Amino acid sequence: MADKTDSPSGKTFTLTNDQTGDKWVLPVFDGTIGPSTIDIRTLYEETGHFTLDPSFTSTASCRSRITFIDGDEGILLHRGYNIKDLAEKSDFLEVAYALLYGDLPNKKSYEEFRKNITYHTMVHEQLQFFFRGFRRDAHPMAVMCGVVGALAAFYHDSLDISDPNQREISAHRLIAKLPTLAAMAFKYSIGQPFVYPRNDLGFAENFLHMCFAVPAEPYRVNPILADAMDKILILHADHEQNASTSTVRLAGSSQANPFACIAAGIASLWGPAHGGANQAVLEMLAEIGTKDRIPEFVQGVKDKKYRLMGFGHRVYKNFDPRAQIMKETCDKVLSELGVKDPALEIAMELERIALSDPYFIDRKLYPNVDFYSGIILKAMGFPVSMFTVLFAVARTVGWVSQWKEMMEEPSNRIGRPRQLYTGAAQRDYVKIEKRT
Ligand code: ACO
Repeated sequence: MADKTDSPSGKTFTLTNDQTGDKWVLPVFDGTIGPSTIDIRTLYEETGHFTLDPSFTSTASCRSRITFIDGDEGILLHRGYNIKDLAEKSDFLEVAYALLYGDLPNKKSYEEFRKNITYHTMVHEQLQFFFRGFRRDAHPMAVMCGVVGALAAFYHDSLDISDPNQREISAHRLIAKLPTLAAMAFKYSIGQPFVYPRNDLGFAENFLHMCFAVPAEPYRVNPILADAMDKILILHADHEQNASTSTVRLAGSSQANPFACIAAGIASLWGPAHGGANQAVLEMLAEIGTKDRIPEFVQGVKDKKYRLMGFGHRVYKNFDPRAQIMKETCDKVLSELGVKDPALEIAMELERIALSDPYFIDRKLYPNVDFYSGIILKAMGFPVSMFTVLFAVARTVGWVSQWKEMMEEPSNRIGRPRQLYTGAAQRDYVKIEKRT
């Protein structure tokens, strides 16, 4: 299907070399919405220059039809649907379907998709023994990096990335098995038996069941908590070309198998500047300890001794729309569970101060999605070490959708950034005896 993003807009951007006066006319592409892009693909060939953008603040790495963010306005759309509508009116599997296939499903396609996903929820029985090779006190993200990468050793029949059918089976397997593996990582860390998936339960409900049920007695998942978990999954499902998604795309561009690519994404997500922030928020709140220590902590942030975790975002320079929905969900969960969490009181006071202090206002630092998600997960009974794992469960659908989109792009080539070399120029080799 041709659209206006398939061909240059007719607009151009002229680049002038100040030394020589040479000019180059570069084509400009318009997106459906959002900033236009200057096409610099022939820049090196024509000018002998690279561009320098180490943290990709001005570089579009791909074309994508999946997710749109307007960071100044605080807008997040998946396949054109507003995140607020999706979080309030859809369930996670509907959102997953839209991310993967482009539209929200009708009843029939939803039912087929649900069947396909639930068909794959179990994992190879041998994986139990693989888990047992880890120390019980291993960080569950370390376990997830290893186990998800190892799926390629268990599912040889869906590794041919040139076959669309096998790509689809791998995508379904990853979305279906991640919750099972995450629950196994949790159960292993607390020394309880693994709980098999139950396909009669909803996606989020089944996940909570695998995490909190024990074989000795029946366990009914609280529907308010299942609903909150479903919202957490929706709100973390995809977020355009962030660090972990770009990692998945770059790994996939070399034609690595999808299990290896998602393991790479999990590794990238682990860092505290990205998915690890939800764990870091709770650690920060625990370190502050009491409300009276907040001013001293905020001063430390201003003195740049540390960062206010759960605040700030590379793209959102306004309220993160996911954070608003997460805050409402947080209130519901805490009131349902009757939790009076001192961490929450500290969080609310920090939020109040940060939103009224010129240091944070000037830098456009607003709470992000992870500021509240950790508080909900803690109230549900998850240890902080599991928070980023839950993020990975949700984001798997985004990673897989972005990987699928890239693999379907006929012009897909290996990603290979260039560099500005600042090391030594070529020099003479000196034998070790003669080196000073
Ligand atoms: N606390 C205090 N100051 C901050 C924070 C923060 N959380 N974030 C940015 N700043 C300050 C910086 O010190 C800098 O100040 P300066 O201009 O005086 O030097 C300015 O704001 C700009 O900061 P950058 O580091 O350039 O912003 P960048 O876009 O690179 O970073 C990031 C974005 C990594 C998310 C950052 O805001 C951060 O570290 N936040 C805390 C970690 C976090 O919550 N991460 C989760 C992100 S959301 C997600 O992955 C789901």
